[in-house]
Amino acid sequence: MQKYMIVGGNRLQGKARASGSKNASLPILAACLLGSGESIIHDVPNLTDISVMLEVLQFLGARVRRAGCSVYVDTASIEYFEVNEDLMRKMRASNLVLGPLLARFKKVIISHPGGCNIGTRPMNLHLKGLQAMGAVIKEKYGFITAESDLLSGAEIYMDMPSVGATENLMMAAVLAKGTTLIKNAAKEPEIVDLQNFLNRMGADVKGAGTDVIKIKGVSSLGPAEHTVIPDRIEAGTLMVAAAITGGDMIVTNVIPEHFEAVTAKLRETGALVTIGEDSVRVKGGQSVSAVDIRTLPYPGFATDMQPQFMALMTVAQGTSIITETIFENRFKHVSELRRMGADIKVEGQTTIIKGVPKLSGAVVEASDLRAGAALILAALVAEDGTVIENIEHIDRGYDRLEKKYGSLGARIIRVHS
Ligand code: UD1
Repeated sequence: MQKYMIVGGNRLQGKARASGSKNASLPILAACLLGSGESIIHDVPNLTDISVMLEVLQFLGARVRRAGCSVYVDTASIEYFEVNEDLMRKMRASNLVLGPLLARFKKVIISHPGGCNIGTRPMNLHLKGLQAMGAVIKEKYGFITAESDLLSGAEIYMDMPSVGATENLMMAAVLAKGTTLIKNAAKEPEIVDLQNFLNRMGADVKGAGTDVIKIKGVSSLGPAEHTVIPDRIEAGTLMVAAAITGGDMIVTNVIPEHFEAVTAKLRETGALVTIGEDSVRVKGGQSVSAVDIRTLPYPGFATDMQPQFMALMTVAQGTSIITETIFENRFKHVSELRRMGADIKVEGQTTIIKGVPKLSGAVVEASDLRAGAALILAALVAEDGTVIENIEHIDRGYDRLEKKYGSLGARIIRVHS
């Protein structure tokens, strides 16, 4: 078990580079399964979630090697189409191998990823879409088996724009016979990045980033080389760190259009946000104004930034209302922020946050990745020291956070206990 010990009070100043996107890397690594040969993916962040995906690929028989931020995945000798249960349990996003394995090997078996700390997270949209393409799905004893000798193009309407389902269905459809239309598709930038990678492999995918994605099936795909987009959530977290500490930070390696909702909300809080071509500068104001937030699918305000903004609102002037509409149980950070002196009331999917003049350090627990990020941000401005336990959740999505934030002036130590 590892912990962070954080002493707050320093303004974060200087320059930090956002890493490559975790949520873009994961489906792209899974997509490597679609073509035989060695794909090379650059700017893959060094995170435990990525290590789990690489383990999954290795388990299936791929040869994987990492050199710095580049990952080489050779899928010429894939032997299995079944992912072992322990690996599935380690990370929900392992379910992204469902579409590619079915498309290339006609059969796939994964254990049901089940719920997680932020909600029940069903797989029905993934499975319904695959069924529409002709797959036979069986769910028994906690396992999902999908089989199809030949997937056929289909018109699929998604009841909600699920990111993972859109990605799985795109990856299944690229080798299907005929054309697939995914309607009410998720529009996240990571989906556009997946489309770009698939097209580099030889696929014919259009429309990612809009409501309708059109995929014309091709007979085979080959390996490809690709650089993943920057991590908009890591960048957004750094931007909030600048705002909450009254700092002055430049975040480089960003695509500012990917976090326009965060930029707009930060400006409403009083922070000065200056957009560069591939960088953003955030200068915290004298005080933080309260703002209301409602999480929505992209391009709305990202649920993955909700906990971090809640941390900012705990020290705002006035009362803010944050409504979570994507996940039903994404307020686990509330009790921990309260331990640090925050005044937060939860009413269903809504929280009412009355800003307090100061937070105080406490021993708190990271219940999930972004909840952990929220606690880090709160600790950066708390009086006295804060201990954050269970930081393995934070390592899932932030590459050596103590190093990056430390270089900006934060006092964060990782303690091995
Ligand atoms: C992805 C991101 C995650 C982010 C989320 C929402 C990755 C690896 N993870 O997760 O960081 O928080 O998008 O932006 O990219 N749903 C169903 N049935 C389904 C699938 C989803 O009801 O078959 C529901 C979910 O329970 C949830 C909502 O749809 O309420 C959105 O989930 P989804 O977009 O699928 O999230 P993930 O792809 O798992």
